[in-house]
Amino acid sequence: MEILIVNGSPRREGNTARMCRAFAEGVASAGRDVSVETVRLYDLDYKGCRSCFACKRRGAAGYGRCVVRDGLAPLLERALRADALVIASPIYLMDVTGAVRSLVERLLFPLSTYEAGYRTVAPRRIPVVMLYTMNVTRELLPAPQLDALEAFVGHVFTPPRRICACDTYQFERYDDYVVEVFSEQAKRRYRETRFPEELRAAFDAGRETAENLAR
Ligand SMILES: Cc1cc2nc3c(=O)[nH]c(=O)nc-3n(C[C@H](O)[C@H](O)[C@H](O)COP(=O)(O)O)c2cc1C
Repeated sequence: MEILIVNGSPRREGNTARMCRAFAEGVASAGRDVSVETVRLYDLDYKGCRSCFACKRRGAAGYGRCVVRDGLAPLLERALRADALVIASPIYLMDVTGAVRSLVERLLFPLSTYEAGYRTVAPRRIPVVMLYTMNVTRELLPAPQLDALEAFVGHVFTPPRRICACDTYQFERYDDYVVEVFSEQAKRRYRETRFPEELRAAFDAGRETAENLAR
Protein backbone atom coordinates (compact mmCIF):
# COMPACT_ATOMS: atom_id res chain seq x y z
CA MET A 1 0.00 0.00 0.00
CA GLU A 2 1.31 3.45 -0.84
CA ILE A 3 0.21 6.93 0.15
CA LEU A 4 1.37 9.76 -2.08
CA ILE A 5 1.63 13.26 -0.60
CA VAL A 6 1.86 16.11 -3.10
CA ASN A 7 3.15 19.32 -1.56
CA GLY A 8 2.12 22.39 -3.55
CA SER A 9 4.08 24.93 -1.52
CA PRO A 10 7.31 26.49 -2.80
CA ARG A 11 8.78 26.68 0.72
CA ARG A 12 10.77 23.61 1.74
CA GLU A 13 10.42 24.26 5.45
CA GLY A 14 7.15 26.17 5.45
CA ASN A 15 3.86 25.52 7.19
CA THR A 16 2.61 23.25 4.43
CA ALA A 17 5.79 21.14 4.52
CA ARG A 18 5.30 20.73 8.27
CA MET A 19 1.69 19.61 7.82
CA CYS A 20 2.85 17.10 5.18
CA ARG A 21 5.55 15.82 7.54
CA ALA A 22 3.05 15.44 10.39
CA PHE A 23 0.75 13.45 8.12
CA ALA A 24 3.65 11.19 7.04
CA GLU A 25 4.66 10.68 10.69
CA GLY A 26 1.08 9.69 11.45
CA VAL A 27 1.23 7.09 8.67
CA ALA A 28 4.48 5.69 10.10
CA SER A 29 3.03 5.65 13.63
CA ALA A 30 0.31 3.23 12.51
CA GLY A 31 3.01 0.58 12.10
CA ARG A 32 1.22 -0.97 9.12
CA ASP A 33 2.61 -2.09 5.80
CA VAL A 34 1.86 1.29 4.24
CA SER A 35 4.58 3.42 2.67
CA VAL A 36 4.35 7.16 2.28
CA GLU A 37 6.23 9.48 -0.04
CA THR A 38 6.12 13.23 -0.47
CA VAL A 39 6.68 14.92 -3.84
CA ARG A 40 7.22 18.68 -4.06
CA LEU A 41 5.43 20.20 -7.05
CA TYR A 42 7.89 23.09 -7.16
CA ASP A 43 10.71 20.62 -7.93
CA LEU A 44 8.93 19.63 -11.15
CA ASP A 45 8.94 21.39 -14.50
CA TYR A 46 5.42 21.50 -15.95
CA LYS A 47 2.48 23.64 -16.95
CA GLY A 48 -1.28 23.32 -16.63
CA CYS A 49 -3.72 21.78 -19.12
CA ARG A 50 -3.06 22.80 -22.75
CA SER A 51 -6.64 22.07 -23.81
CA CYS A 52 -5.49 19.56 -26.45
CA PHE A 53 -8.48 17.33 -25.53
CA ALA A 54 -6.44 14.20 -26.35
CA CYS A 55 -7.81 12.79 -23.08
CA LYS A 56 -11.35 12.95 -24.51
CA ARG A 57 -10.66 11.78 -28.09
CA ARG A 58 -12.87 8.90 -29.23
CA GLY A 59 -11.01 5.56 -29.27
CA ALA A 60 -7.69 7.12 -28.23
CA ALA A 61 -5.13 5.04 -26.35
CA GLY A 62 -4.71 7.90 -23.90
CA TYR A 63 -8.44 8.28 -23.25
CA GLY A 64 -9.04 9.53 -19.70
CA ARG A 65 -5.36 10.34 -19.14
CA CYS A 66 -3.20 13.41 -19.68
CA VAL A 67 -0.96 12.66 -22.66
CA VAL A 68 1.47 15.55 -22.18
CA ARG A 69 4.97 14.22 -21.48
CA ASP A 70 6.68 16.70 -19.18
CA GLY A 71 7.91 16.87 -15.59
CA LEU A 72 4.43 16.18 -14.20
CA ALA A 73 3.73 13.01 -16.23
CA PRO A 74 5.50 10.55 -13.86
CA LEU A 75 3.68 12.07 -10.88
CA LEU A 76 0.29 11.74 -12.61
CA GLU A 77 1.01 8.05 -13.22
CA ARG A 78 2.02 7.55 -9.61
CA ALA A 79 -1.10 9.32 -8.37
CA LEU A 80 -3.20 6.81 -10.31
CA ARG A 81 -1.29 3.87 -8.81
CA ALA A 82 -1.40 5.23 -5.23
CA ASP A 83 -3.77 3.75 -2.67
CA ALA A 84 -4.41 7.17 -1.12
CA LEU A 85 -3.58 10.71 -2.16
CA VAL A 86 -2.82 13.82 -0.13
CA ILE A 87 -2.87 17.21 -1.83
CA ALA A 88 -1.32 19.99 0.26
CA SER A 89 -1.37 23.69 -0.57
CA PRO A 90 -0.94 27.11 0.95
CA ILE A 91 -3.77 29.47 0.12
CA TYR A 92 -2.71 32.08 -2.44
CA LEU A 93 -5.21 34.82 -3.30
CA MET A 94 -8.05 32.82 -1.73
CA ASP A 95 -7.35 29.58 -3.58
CA VAL A 96 -4.77 26.81 -3.86
CA THR A 97 -1.44 27.70 -5.49
CA GLY A 98 -1.09 27.85 -9.26
CA ALA A 99 1.08 24.72 -9.08
CA VAL A 100 -1.78 22.80 -7.47
CA ARG A 101 -4.33 24.17 -9.95
CA SER A 102 -2.12 23.02 -12.81
CA LEU A 103 -1.80 19.60 -11.19
CA VAL A 104 -5.54 19.14 -10.71
CA GLU A 105 -6.30 20.35 -14.23
CA ARG A 106 -4.11 17.54 -15.56
CA LEU A 107 -5.15 14.89 -13.02
CA LEU A 108 -8.89 15.48 -12.54
CA PHE A 109 -10.06 16.83 -15.91
CA PRO A 110 -8.97 13.76 -17.96
CA LEU A 111 -10.49 11.39 -15.37
CA SER A 112 -13.81 13.22 -15.47
CA THR A 113 -15.07 12.30 -18.95
CA TYR A 114 -17.73 14.03 -21.02
CA GLU A 115 -19.76 10.81 -21.02
CA ALA A 116 -23.20 10.80 -19.41
CA GLY A 117 -22.96 12.00 -15.82
CA TYR A 118 -19.34 13.04 -16.46
CA ARG A 119 -18.43 9.39 -15.76
CA THR A 120 -15.14 9.10 -13.92
CA VAL A 121 -12.49 6.77 -15.30
CA ALA A 122 -10.29 6.84 -12.19
CA PRO A 123 -8.89 3.31 -11.81
CA ARG A 124 -10.03 3.24 -8.18
CA ARG A 125 -12.04 5.45 -5.83
CA ILE A 126 -9.09 6.14 -3.56
CA PRO A 127 -9.31 8.20 -0.35
CA VAL A 128 -8.02 11.77 -0.64
CA VAL A 129 -6.95 14.22 2.06
CA MET A 130 -6.60 17.95 1.42
CA LEU A 131 -4.15 19.87 3.65
CA TYR A 132 -4.34 23.66 3.49
CA THR A 133 -2.37 26.36 5.27
CA MET A 134 -3.36 30.02 5.28
CA ASN A 135 -2.81 33.40 6.84
CA VAL A 136 -6.47 34.02 7.62
CA THR A 137 -8.36 32.64 10.58
CA ARG A 138 -10.62 29.59 10.21
CA GLU A 139 -13.75 31.80 9.95
CA LEU A 140 -12.34 33.51 6.85
CA LEU A 141 -11.08 30.49 4.91
CA PRO A 142 -12.12 30.68 1.24
CA ALA A 143 -14.88 28.08 1.53
CA PRO A 144 -16.46 28.49 -1.95
CA GLN A 145 -13.15 27.86 -3.74
CA LEU A 146 -12.16 24.92 -1.53
CA ASP A 147 -15.68 23.44 -1.69
CA ALA A 148 -15.61 23.62 -5.51
CA LEU A 149 -12.22 21.91 -5.78
CA GLU A 150 -13.21 19.24 -3.28
CA ALA A 151 -16.48 18.60 -5.14
CA PHE A 152 -14.40 17.80 -8.22
CA VAL A 153 -12.05 15.57 -6.21
CA GLY A 154 -15.10 13.85 -4.71
CA HIS A 155 -16.62 13.25 -8.11
CA VAL A 156 -13.45 11.69 -9.52
CA PHE A 157 -12.18 9.84 -6.44
CA THR A 158 -13.98 10.14 -3.07
CA PRO A 159 -15.09 13.20 -1.08
CA PRO A 160 -11.83 14.33 0.55
CA ARG A 161 -11.10 14.99 4.18
CA ARG A 162 -10.08 18.62 4.81
CA ILE A 163 -7.44 19.62 7.34
CA CYS A 164 -6.38 23.24 7.77
CA ALA A 165 -3.67 25.20 9.50
CA CYS A 166 -4.89 28.78 9.85
CA ASP A 167 -3.45 32.10 11.01
CA THR A 168 -0.01 30.81 10.02
CA TYR A 169 3.29 32.38 10.98
CA GLN A 170 4.71 33.65 7.71
CA PHE A 171 8.19 35.10 8.24
CA GLU A 172 11.21 34.11 10.28
CA ARG A 173 11.72 37.71 11.40
CA TYR A 174 8.61 39.89 11.32
CA ASP A 175 10.71 42.99 12.01
CA ASP A 176 12.20 42.73 8.52
CA TYR A 177 8.81 43.13 6.83
CA VAL A 178 6.12 45.78 6.63
CA VAL A 179 3.18 44.27 8.47
CA GLU A 180 0.43 46.47 9.88
CA VAL A 181 -2.67 44.35 9.40
CA PHE A 182 -1.95 41.65 11.96
CA SER A 183 0.21 41.34 15.02
CA GLU A 184 3.35 39.24 15.24
CA GLN A 185 2.58 38.60 18.91
CA ALA A 186 -0.85 37.15 18.13
CA LYS A 187 0.66 35.07 15.32
CA ARG A 188 3.35 33.75 17.66
CA ARG A 189 0.74 32.89 20.29
CA TYR A 190 -1.31 30.99 17.71
CA ARG A 191 1.80 29.18 16.46
CA GLU A 192 2.67 28.09 20.00
CA THR A 193 -0.82 27.08 21.10
CA ARG A 194 -2.96 26.17 18.07
CA PHE A 195 -0.52 25.13 15.34
CA PRO A 196 0.55 22.04 17.36
CA GLU A 197 -3.14 21.01 17.42
CA GLU A 198 -3.38 21.46 13.64
CA LEU A 199 -0.22 19.41 13.17
CA ARG A 200 -1.75 16.80 15.42
CA ALA A 201 -4.88 16.72 13.23
CA ALA A 202 -2.65 16.05 10.20
CA PHE A 203 -0.79 13.36 12.16
CA ASP A 204 -4.06 11.70 13.21
CA ALA A 205 -5.36 11.80 9.64
CA GLY A 206 -2.15 10.07 8.50
CA ARG A 207 -2.50 7.36 11.12
CA GLU A 208 -6.20 6.82 10.35
CA THR A 209 -5.62 6.74 6.59
CA ALA A 210 -2.92 4.07 7.03
CA GLU A 211 -5.10 2.05 9.40
CA ASN A 212 -8.06 2.18 7.03
CA LEU A 213 -5.90 1.07 4.10
CA ALA A 214 -4.46 -1.85 6.06
CA ARG A 215 -7.89 -3.09 7.16
C1 LIG B 1 1.33 34.97 -3.13
C2 LIG B 1 0.69 34.74 -1.79
C3 LIG B 1 -0.66 34.92 -1.65
C4 LIG B 1 -1.29 34.64 -0.42
N1 LIG B 1 -2.65 34.79 -0.34
C5 LIG B 1 -3.28 34.43 0.80
C6 LIG B 1 -4.70 34.48 0.89
O1 LIG B 1 -5.41 34.86 -0.04
N2 LIG B 1 -5.29 34.09 2.05
C7 LIG B 1 -4.54 33.63 3.10
O2 LIG B 1 -5.12 33.27 4.12
N3 LIG B 1 -3.20 33.56 3.05
C8 LIG B 1 -2.55 33.94 1.93
N4 LIG B 1 -1.18 33.84 1.85
C9 LIG B 1 -0.42 33.32 3.03
C10 LIG B 1 -0.09 31.84 2.93
O3 LIG B 1 -1.19 31.08 2.49
C11 LIG B 1 0.31 31.28 4.30
O4 LIG B 1 1.33 32.04 4.87
C12 LIG B 1 0.73 29.82 4.17
O5 LIG B 1 0.77 29.22 5.44
C13 LIG B 1 2.10 29.70 3.52
O6 LIG B 1 2.47 28.34 3.42
P1 LIG B 1 4.01 27.92 3.39
O7 LIG B 1 4.60 28.27 4.72
O8 LIG B 1 3.99 26.46 3.13
O9 LIG B 1 4.65 28.68 2.29
C14 LIG B 1 -0.52 34.18 0.68
C15 LIG B 1 0.87 34.02 0.52
C16 LIG B 1 1.47 34.31 -0.69
C17 LIG B 1 2.97 34.13 -0.83
